[in-house]
Amino acid sequence: MSPLDRTAIGLLLLPVPAVLAILVGTDALAAGPAAIGALSALGGIALGVARLRGRLAEARQIESLNEAELHEEFVRQSRLAESYEMILDAIPEPLLVLRRDRRVLHANRAIVDLLGHDPIDADLTAAIRHPEVIAATAAVLAGQVEARTIEFQRGGAIEQSLVARLVGLPKGRTDGPAAVLVLHDLTLIRKAMEMRADFVANVSHELRTPLTAIVGMIETLRGPAKKDAEARERFLAMMEEQGSRMTRLVGDLLSLSQIQANEHTRPTDSVRIQDILPTVARMLEPHAEKKKVAFAIEADSDLPAVLGDADQLQQAFQNLMHNAVKYGRDGSVIRVVARREGGDGIAVSVIDQGEGIPEQHLPRLTERFYRVDKARSRSLGGTGLGLAIVKHIVTRHQGRLAIESEIGVGSTFTVSLPVKREGIARD
Ligand SMILES: Nc1ncnc2c1ncn2[C@@H]1O[C@H](COP(=O)(O)OP(=O)(O)OP(=O)(O)O)[C@@H](O)[C@H]1O
Ligand SMILES: [Mg+2]
Repeated sequence: MSPLDRTAIGLLLLPVPAVLAILVGTDALAAGPAAIGALSALGGIALGVARLRGRLAEARQIESLNEAELHEEFVRQSRLAESYEMILDAIPEPLLVLRRDRRVLHANRAIVDLLGHDPIDADLTAAIRHPEVIAATAAVLAGQVEARTIEFQRGGAIEQSLVARLVGLPKGRTDGPAAVLVLHDLTLIRKAMEMRADFVANVSHELRTPLTAIVGMIETLRGPAKKDAEARERFLAMMEEQGSRMTRLVGDLLSLSQIQANEHTRPTDSVRIQDILPTVARMLEPHAEKKKVAFAIEADSDLPAVLGDADQLQQAFQNLMHNAVKYGRDGSVIRVVARREGGDGIAVSVIDQGEGIPEQHLPRLTERFYRVDKARSRSLGGTGLGLAIVKHIVTRHQGRLAIESEIGVGSTFTVSLPVKREGIARD
C-alpha cells in the first residue's frame, strides 16, 4: 500500500467534521469572517475529500467485486474441467481429444487402460501408429473432412479389430480441442461372426457326409447292384446307420440350442446325483457290454442334493460316461466317484483307463465339433457335440468342468456343482 493510499484511508476513516476540526483547530468555529472564509475553503477541501472517499469506496467495491467474481469464475472453470474429465472417463469407449498440432489434450480412462500408458501431451503416434488413422487425423485436423471412420488391426498379445471414428471440432483456440478420436473394439463381434460362420460350415459338413453316402448308395442300388439282394441288404443297413447319425446330429444340435436358450435361468429342482448315476449306468449297459467295461459307482447315499435340472444333469453324465466307454480301454473299469467338495459343493469324477488325451487338445475339447481323432469319433457314431452339451449344462448349473488326462493312463472328467441350500429353491 502506497503512503498516499494510507493517508486517504486514514482520512476516510474519520468523519468530515472531525477532519475540519483537526485542520482548523477547535476554536476556528468561533472565529470571525476570515475564519468563515477559511472555513468555506476548508468546506471545499471537505467536499473534495468526501468525493475522494466516495470514489475510493467505489473502486474498492469494484475491486472486491472483481475479486469475488474472479474467484467464482475460477471455481466454475475448475469444476467444468473436472466434470469434463469425469464425463470423458465415464465413456466406456477409448477416447482421445486432440489439439490442432495432433497432440493429445485428453485421454480418457478406457484408452489409458487399452494402451497401458497415458499419452497426454504426446503426439497421437504415441497412442496409435496406424498410417491410415494418422492420415485420417491429418485430414480432419486440416478441416478437409468433418469426420472419418477407419477400421484397423492392433497387434499385441491378442490381435484386436478396432474402428477409429474421428470427428473434427469447430475452430477455436490453437491449443484447444480440435478433434475427437473414439475407438470401438470389434474383436468380440468379429470373433462371434467367425464362430457363427465356422458353425454353419461344420454343421453343413457333418450333414453332407452322411447325405453324400446315402445318395451314393441309392445310385448303386438303382444301377450296378439292382439285382444283388445281398448288396441291397448291406447298403440298406449302411443307409440306416447314416440316417440315424443325421438324426442324432440334429437331436444334439436342438438340445444344445435349447440348453443355451435357458442357460441364464437357474434350475429349481432338488436333484440327488447319487440316484442319477446308476440310472445312467443302466442306460449305457448295451454299449458297456460290447466293450466289456464295467462301471464302479462310488457315491454316498447321504450326499446333499444339488439345485438342478434332473434331465439335463442326466444328459451331462450320460455324455461323460458314454465317452469313457467309447474312449476307454476294452475290459477296463470306469470309476464314477461322487463326493463332497468344500463347504457347499459336490464333485463327480468320471475316471477311465483309456489312452488319454494329448495336453494341447484339452482346452478345446468342449468346442462344438472338436474331436481329437475325427475319423475315429465318426466311426464310433459321434457327433462331436457331447462335451459342448456338458459344458453348457454345467454352466447353467453354475458349476465347473475340469479335464485331466495322462497319456497311457486315462482321463478324468470332473463336474463340480453347488449344493442346494435352504431357501434358494424358492428364490
Ligand atoms: N474319455 C475320453 N478319453 C479320450 N478322449 C476323449 C474322452 N472324452 C472325449 N474325448 C475326445 O474328445 C472329443 C470330443 O468329445 P465329445 O463327447 O464332444 O464328442 P464325441 O464323443 O466325438 O461325439 P458325441 O457327440 O457323440 O459325444 C472326442 O471326439 C474325443 O476325441
Ligand atoms: Mg461324446
